[in-house]
Amino acid sequence: MAPALVETPRSNVSFANKGIADYKEAYIGGPAAYKQEAEVGGTAKQPPARYPNYLPTWDPEEKYPPLQPFVHKEHGKDADPTFPHLLENAKVTNLTSNIGAEIHGVELSKLTDKGKDELALFVAQKKVVVFRNQGFADLPIQDALNFGGYFGRHHIHPTSGAPKGFPAVHLVHRGAEDTTARDFFEERTNSVTWHSDVTYEQQPPGTTFLYLLDGPVAGGDTLFASQTEAYRRLSPEFRKRLHGLKAIHSAIEQADNSKNRGGVVRREPVTSIHPIVRTHPGTGEKALFVNPQFTRRIVGYKREESDFLLKFLFDHIAKGQDFQARVKWAPGTVVVWDNRVTAHSALLDWDDGQRRHLARITPQAERPEETPFEGK
Ligand SMILES: [Fe+2]
Repeated sequence: MAPALVETPRSNVSFANKGIADYKEAYIGGPAAYKQEAEVGGTAKQPPARYPNYLPTWDPEEKYPPLQPFVHKEHGKDADPTFPHLLENAKVTNLTSNIGAEIHGVELSKLTDKGKDELALFVAQKKVVVFRNQGFADLPIQDALNFGGYFGRHHIHPTSGAPKGFPAVHLVHRGAEDTTARDFFEERTNSVTWHSDVTYEQQPPGTTFLYLLDGPVAGGDTLFASQTEAYRRLSPEFRKRLHGLKAIHSAIEQADNSKNRGGVVRREPVTSIHPIVRTHPGTGEKALFVNPQFTRRIVGYKREESDFLLKFLFDHIAKGQDFQARVKWAPGTVVVWDNRVTAHSALLDWDDGQRRHLARITPQAERPEETPFEGK
């Protein structure tokens, strides 16, 4: 019954082509905006792409069946909580007091399985961890996927571009001399789009990897918010009310947005119902699990009731700069976050035509579960 509550989105094709329809997505990209010559050969102002093997492709004939359930293994549960295999040679700096760490002195791709277990737990605790000076982007793509596959089944994104032959790599790509930011800001005051990745899936991602291939000299930072601290900031009475509530997460608007601007839909869009509060299986921490990009409706609430409560939660997460961190990218940076207990937003804050190109490896995790309210 409940998924039928998701309304058909209003079509708004001309705005959709600019990425400014009802569904907000600043990085509109897609095949219509992609210029292969400028990427491979560069332009008068911009050099060629540093990693042409990672340039995006979109094949409209490439279709995938619905995802099937799988059993997720939470490697963080096997970790030594003193992190000897991960942090032996590491210099760790906290980004803030309650979210984020930056690490120098660790080569991710060299981690043993014990080190990977510790990585899963450390990232779950810190929420987002920035690894500098990595050789990850220089690995053969298959080796990078083999590394990420330790943490869960690879998610194949339904709409994004992917390197040819590697559909499990999700690309964030804004080409050289792309000026779509100007179109976007004709209709929007900001590019902030808080979300956790693909929460419409029944088993959304857990430990997630995003690494820089090319980026502007300044700009294009990524914002992260701790959804556990967002939960803890709420009063016990309010948290008690949230427990037991479930919400519908929808892929429909993202798929329509892709179709409207000439992009692909590799898998039919789905909706899933998830608890509003989920518990992390490795840390036992509770976290809010709603986001404005994909969460549409609270099950059992009337429309106005649902809109009212979700707007409060979305604003609470967006305004909580005292449980957020801002990550600056640099060549060799790999950012690892736990998508179960964080939200993030890209920022589209430069429009001088510099390329921005990142790759994401997105292992799926368990179906979100809630444990009972603990009375405090
Ligand atoms: Fe994202």
